[in-house]
Amino acid sequence: MSHGVTRASLRHETVQLLNRGNRRNPDVLLVPGPSGPVVVKDWAPRGPWVRRWLAPWLGRREERAYQALRGHPAVPRLLGRIDELALVIEYRPGRRMGRSLAGEVPPGFVDALAGAIDGMHARGVAHLDLRHRSNVLADASGRPVLIDFGSAVCLRPGGLAARLLLPLLAWIDRRALEKWRVRLEPAARTAAGASGGGGGASRPT
Ligand SMILES: Nc1ncnc2c1ncn2[C@@H]1O[C@H](COP(=O)(O)OP(=O)(O)OP(=O)(O)O)[C@@H](O)[C@H]1O
Ligand SMILES: [Mg+2]
Repeated sequence: MSHGVTRASLRHETVQLLNRGNRRNPDVLLVPGPSGPVVVKDWAPRGPWVRRWLAPWLGRREERAYQALRGHPAVPRLLGRIDELALVIEYRPGRRMGRSLAGEVPPGFVDALAGAIDGMHARGVAHLDLRHRSNVLADASGRPVLIDFGSAVCLRPGGLAARLLLPLLAWIDRRALEKWRVRLEPAARTAAGASGGGGGASRPT
């Protein structure tokens, strides 16, 4: 297996927990691999119903999105699977989105994020969970990284479904982008305030 991670490595290597899952979400682990640490999204600790039915479906859905986005500069590479219950993904360290990043990301960050989102839509993928601060990272060079395609919808670019549905789904992602613009760019915040309240941007993070 090219990523070199097995169930035995999860038991025997020093594994760092990046995010503990709940009843239906995977544990997200940082695991040493032959060429450096990799991320493992693992549903194996979940209950039998999730393991039998939900996890394989969620895993395949996320896998499909990563495959459609292969080569997209802001999206980590899917390295493969350990088994039906665990995906192995390239580790792209970064800081989670949030107001605390205002002034810490380069001035073009939100525009770069907009470009990354457009590039994703051009490949037929809508993320649909970009409002969640854990799903957009800023890497050490201040570039955006998009992760967690567990809610994504993938459509064939140019196909009928994409032509009909993608504009609506893309709009949901762009609304999330505007939330981050207001959080991160003081000028956008002022403009939103002047025009009556940030276009529905919600609770502070
Ligand atoms: N490829 C990656 N590179 C770096 N960090 C990652 C990567 N994938 C996940 N993480 C880290 O693990 C956290 C959880 O990952 P992810 O969002 O994919 O899982 P999740 O089950 O959807 O969790 P949540 O419900 O909190 O969104 C991310 O916020 C991030 O900090
Ligand atoms: Mg997430």
